[in-house]
Amino acid sequence: MSVIRVHDKSFETYLSEETISERVKAIGASINADYAGKKPFFIAILNGSFMFASDLFKQLTIDAELCFIKLASYKGMRSSGKVVTSIGLDEDLFGKDVIIVEDIVDTGKTLTNFLPKLVHQQPNSLRIATLLHKSEATEYPLTLDYVGFDIPNKFVVGYGLDYEGLGRNLKEIYQLV
Ligand code: IMP
Repeated sequence: MSVIRVHDKSFETYLSEETISERVKAIGASINADYAGKKPFFIAILNGSFMFASDLFKQLTIDAELCFIKLASYKGMRSSGKVVTSIGLDEDLFGKDVIIVEDIVDTGKTLTNFLPKLVHQQPNSLRIATLLHKSEATEYPLTLDYVGFDIPNKFVVGYGLDYEGLGRNLKEIYQLV
């Protein structure tokens, strides 16, 4: 167990690099099986999901497409709830098998606000893959199809997730002490 400082806060190791990697491999294997013969279209939500999306995409043995979009402004340690589209979605999703890739689902507000925009385009199917889920924090219930880890309602950093801009580069996931 190691303790690190990010800005003014202490965080301790919560999920090791190996633990994350094993889980990402397992999710990749599930997607390969579930989408055999299909060509899913992954929509990864920036910034936090870039590392998960990259590692997950490497596990795919089926044909798949990927794009990144930016949705939320998330300030400090609480969900701001303000959803802003700053990098748009250019693809036509009609008839596609869409998989949304998120780093973390906290209250569920971000995705709840965003999903109708996708549904409107009439994809053939729409699923959500999230590395982390704070199920205790749910305010907007969502069906999450692929979940890496259900974690307690504590702030985490690392593996793409930040605390006020820092910590994204960490290979492990750390929890607020
Ligand atoms: P939601 O709309 O409440 O589900 O929040 C989702 C977004 O909040 C995620 O995409 C993250 O950007 C951010 N977020 C929620 N919890 C954490 C955390 O513990 N660490 C870092 N970012 C978080």
